[in-house]
Amino acid sequence: MERKQIEQLAEKFIKGKIDYPEKVNPRVQEITLRLLTDLMQAINDLHITADEYWAGVEYFADLGKEAGLLSPGLGLDHFMDLMIEEDLQAAGLDGGTVRTIEGPLYVAGAPVEKGFARLDDGTDLENGTVLFMQGTVYDEAGKPIPNAQVEVWHANSLGNYSFFDESQSEFNLRRTIITDENGNYGFRSIVPLGYSVPDDGMVKKLLDALGRHGHRPAHIHFFASAEGYRKVTTQINIDGDEYLWDDFAFASREGLVPEVKMVDDAAQLKEKGLDKAYASIDFDFHLVKDIDKPVQGSEVERRRAQL
Ligand code: DHB
Ligand code: FE
Repeated sequence: MERKQIEQLAEKFIKGKIDYPEKVNPRVQEITLRLLTDLMQAINDLHITADEYWAGVEYFADLGKEAGLLSPGLGLDHFMDLMIEEDLQAAGLDGGTVRTIEGPLYVAGAPVEKGFARLDDGTDLENGTVLFMQGTVYDEAGKPIPNAQVEVWHANSLGNYSFFDESQSEFNLRRTIITDENGNYGFRSIVPLGYSVPDDGMVKKLLDALGRHGHRPAHIHFFASAEGYRKVTTQINIDGDEYLWDDFAFASREGLVPEVKMVDDAAQLKEKGLDKAYASIDFDFHLVKDIDKPVQGSEVERRRAQL
């Protein structure tokens, strides 16, 4: 089919039959027209057969709630980060801690603690290595920000997240930490294992057909924010993980792989009440002042689990 004909058809399907003009959302209309045109063009160019087309429709029908997992696997979460960064840069809001994807496994409403929190419920110590992570939230001038909010969430030693993994206790490995008067935060937890997409799921099905794995390197998620500053969505990766630069979600970034120090010094172990070496990570957050102009990327609206 000729391009002109495809464009005319898409135009007709989307704009040729408007029964309720007062209900039209022009933005939805514009996006639908563009996506439909591009889809029909692809069907034409690749000669997608009817069998293949219906397999695709059925894939989406079965995908359902897994759509939020397909998006990172196709690199689209990371792509949206790059788009956000373009907008931030254009608005002079670049700099600060590098952002990376939120992922689909955040749960709102985690317990709030001042300065320091213990994230794990103590049930994962057989497999897990104890982790202490600490740092400071700074402004652009390098001044610590007291009362900044550090929201942290991560997987357990099997790569599973509480809430989605119902075998874990409520809010296990999830906390909101408010920085102390010196802008410091700290927490005790366990070193996570990288998450993998469910074996029996629809995302795995597509990844298999693409010859790709569905593993993420071990990582810890953060939202860091403070009054008057732009919220940053980011993660740190655990250095040494075999998937460190082979993330199925393409979310590993320079600047987000802090050194992991193993501490086995007797005095320090005693102080922490531990009998085995623990991991220690230092990581600071750098926030950028907000401006009045609306620029996407600070508070991203999306459906999130809530407890
Ligand atoms: C997915 C899981 C994660 O833990 C994450 O950080 C990003 C993506 C996923 O299931 O697609
Ligand atoms: Fe994750």
